[in-house]
Amino acid sequence: MKIDVNGRGHLMIGGADAVELAKRFGTPLYVFDEARIRNMMRVYKSALDREYGGHGKVLYASKAFSCLAMYKIAQSEGLGADVVSGGEFYTAVSAGFPACDVCMHGNNKTLEELKYALDNKIGTVVLDSQIEADVLDVLAAERNIVQDVLIRINPGVEAHTHEYVQTAKTDSKFGFSVSDGAALRMTAHVAGKNSLRFMGYHCHIGSQIFEKQSFAAAASKVLDFMAIAKHAGYEAEVLNLGGGFGVWYNSDDPELGASDYEAFIKTVTDEIKRKCGELGLKLPYLELEPGRSIVGEAGTTLYTVGAIKEIPGIRKYVAVDGGMFENPRYALYKSKYTVLLAGRAGEKCTEKVTVAGKCCESGDIIAVDAPLPEAMTGDIMAVLTTGAYNYSMASNYNRNPVPPAVLVCDGEADYIVKPQTYEDMIRNDAIPERLK
Ligand SMILES: Cc1ncc(COP(=O)(O)O)c(C=O)c1O
Repeated sequence: MKIDVNGRGHLMIGGADAVELAKRFGTPLYVFDEARIRNMMRVYKSALDREYGGHGKVLYASKAFSCLAMYKIAQSEGLGADVVSGGEFYTAVSAGFPACDVCMHGNNKTLEELKYALDNKIGTVVLDSQIEADVLDVLAAERNIVQDVLIRINPGVEAHTHEYVQTAKTDSKFGFSVSDGAALRMTAHVAGKNSLRFMGYHCHIGSQIFEKQSFAAAASKVLDFMAIAKHAGYEAEVLNLGGGFGVWYNSDDPELGASDYEAFIKTVTDEIKRKCGELGLKLPYLELEPGRSIVGEAGTTLYTVGAIKEIPGIRKYVAVDGGMFENPRYALYKSKYTVLLAGRAGEKCTEKVTVAGKCCESGDIIAVDAPLPEAMTGDIMAVLTTGAYNYSMASNYNRNPVPPAVLVCDGEADYIVKPQTYEDMIRNDAIPERLK
């Protein structure tokens, strides 16, 4: 990834000096580059408009990073949003995001979440179980509405970054399998409901995918199934292919530019047009749900280097003031990152170190064997591509406060998530009378 460095050798993010940001807002700090977020939203939207005649919508996958400002940006760029919980939907609604442009996922939405979604006039609910269809039908009838729904299906395509596999059986907690007839049975079930309007199908084949053909293969399989469903009397109007487009984290990953993401869209839309022609289907309204690729590379986390511990012949640990409470991805998936010293971004790397967090957990690591110039206590460290699935997976583990997030635009930085305080962390604690 092209790294912007100023004359002082400092990393620049969205026109702001990262060291100055760390000084002003403290560390750890999530920094988001607004121009990059908007640029990716525009890339997807304009490619879909161009390649598919505007017969579709890009829905920002909230789970990658959800806060009020993100919905403001998505709305101003003409995107819809997907949510996977009442909390994400509440955040969207509170930001003034049009509920009709929101689609709700989840393999086990609670009754409260479904009621909340209907009471706030959510656009679409993606059904993931028969019981959910039954409950939603009753809730919609009680409210005298007919709710638009999609059915989540497993087309038998699983993508794994650079390749995809076709599987006859899908072992997943999500969706209805096409191969064993469950998807068709669910379609019939939903079509029989008076207060649900069957709109089409949703699938999501994986994440951090670089192989364009994976999406084309999924689209092709779903369209084969849509032809079968049509034959059985259930014509789908909407095809939602989920998200999953990959991003650059470190030198193992390809660096994708706008033209590569446009090529993803073109490959998928070309296949949909070809396949619909072959099967005699009308072109479905196409929805895509990118999350990571919209916000991932736009995010950087800044830390201050603290303790440095060298174990001769084994490794050098450079500890920072964050850790798995604000970036759990190494602990969860052994994810790799690119690490820099923000104040010495132009310097040559002279050693490989393990960047450790401050949690009381040996697995609390941010990066292993990260090439760096010799880090000193007090250096500001930057970990790149942390925009997706970091803040959204943050916790108060060890009672560490979740760090704030700032949005940078033309060198100006503003909070989009304010710092959490110790008081915030005990706000919902309670002491039973007998312990007082
Ligand atoms: C249903 C659904 N849509 C969209 C996404 C977003 O995927 P990504 O962030 O990889 O683009 C996910 C991620 O898990 C998902 O489960």
